[in-house]
Amino acid sequence: MTSAAGPSAAPPLPVFADVDTGVDDTFALAYLLASDDAELVGIASTGGNVPVEQVCRNNLGLLELLEVSDVPVSCGSPQPLSAPLRTAEDTHGPTGLGYAELPATDRVPTAHDSAEAWILAAHAYSGELVGLVTGPLTNLALALRAEPALPTMVRRLVIMGGSFDYRGNTTPVSEWNIAVDPEAAAEVFAAWGNAGLRPDTHELPIVCGLNLTESIVLTPKILARLASAADSHSMTMSVLDERGYRSAAANPLIRVLEDAMRFYFEFHFDQGEGYLAHLHDPFAAAVALDPGLVTTRTTTVDVELDGTLTRGMTIADWNGHWGRPPNASIAVAGAAGATAPLPTVFFDRFIERVAPFARRFG
Ligand code: BDR
Ligand code: CA
Repeated sequence: MTSAAGPSAAPPLPVFADVDTGVDDTFALAYLLASDDAELVGIASTGGNVPVEQVCRNNLGLLELLEVSDVPVSCGSPQPLSAPLRTAEDTHGPTGLGYAELPATDRVPTAHDSAEAWILAAHAYSGELVGLVTGPLTNLALALRAEPALPTMVRRLVIMGGSFDYRGNTTPVSEWNIAVDPEAAAEVFAAWGNAGLRPDTHELPIVCGLNLTESIVLTPKILARLASAADSHSMTMSVLDERGYRSAAANPLIRVLEDAMRFYFEFHFDQGEGYLAHLHDPFAAAVALDPGLVTTRTTTVDVELDGTLTRGMTIADWNGHWGRPPNASIAVAGAAGATAPLPTVFFDRFIERVAPFARRFG
C-alpha cells in the first residue's frame, strides 16, 4: 500500500491478523487493507463463527474481491485445543458473511498451517510485528507451544476477547472468542505473564473486551455515511425492510459490507438490542494500528476453565490478589482528553479510510 503522506512518513506496521471471518472480521480486514499505516503480512484462519475451512474460503474470497494478491492466507486448527468446536451461524449467517456473496476464486491457502504462519511472521518481522486476534486464540496458543519466545518477538498483540466487569455475550459471563476455546485463551495469557517481559521494552497484550467493544455501535445511518463517502449511494437500511433484502450498491465492496451487515443487524435486533451491530473486530483492528485510541489498565488476566456456570469467564485481578505478574493491558475507555466520544472517533476514522479504498473498486 502506498502512502499519501510522502517519503518522511513512518513505514507501515506489519500486521498479522488471526480471524474467524465472520461479519465483523470482514470489516476488520477491510479496515486493515484500507489503512496506509498498515501492511497486512498474513491472515490466519481460525474456526469460530464458522468452521475453519469456511473461514479460510471467506478470507481468500475477500482478497479476490479486493484484488489483493500478496497476502498469504493460512488455515488453522479445525478444533479448539480441547473443547468441541461451536459455531455461530445464527449470528453471522450460514457462510459467516451474512447475506453477502464473495467472488469465486482459485486462490489456495498456504501449505503450512496458521500456527506455523504466526511463527514465520514473528521471525520475518522480529520486533516489529503487530498481531491482531479477532477470533478464538487456538492458533496463537498452538504457535506459543512451538515457539515460547513469541511474546518477546512481537511488537504488539491486540486481542478482541473477553469481558471485564461486564456481562458475556455467549454465557452470562463469557465472551464468544474466549468461550469457543477457553484453554487456548488461558495459555496465551499465561505465556505473556510468564515471559518475564520488561515493561520498558515490551508491551503487554492489549485486550479489547465487550466492556468497550459493545459501545462501538454501527447503525444503518453510519453505514449509509460510508456508502455515500464511497460514492456508492444506496438506501439507508431499516428495520422495516424485508428480511434478507439485498444491497443495490454499485460498489462491490460496499455491497458485500451491506449484505453482510444486514444479517448482523437482524441478529442484534432479534436479541433485543435494536437494529444495529457491535463492531468488535474492526475496533480492535483500529487499536492495533493506534493504541492511543484507548485508555488501558494493566493487570493480570486469567480464564475460568472449570466453573459449571462460569467457564470461559475472563477475570482481571485488578488489586493483585494473586500476586502474579501482569499479562494484559485492558482497554477500559477512550483516550484521555479525546475531543469526541470513542465511537465517533472510531467511525470517523473507519469511514475516512474505507471509503476511499472502496472507491478504487467503484
Ligand atoms: C466476537 O465474537 C464473534 O462472533 C465476533 O466476530 C467477535 O470477534 C465478539 O464477541
Ligand atoms: Ca471475530
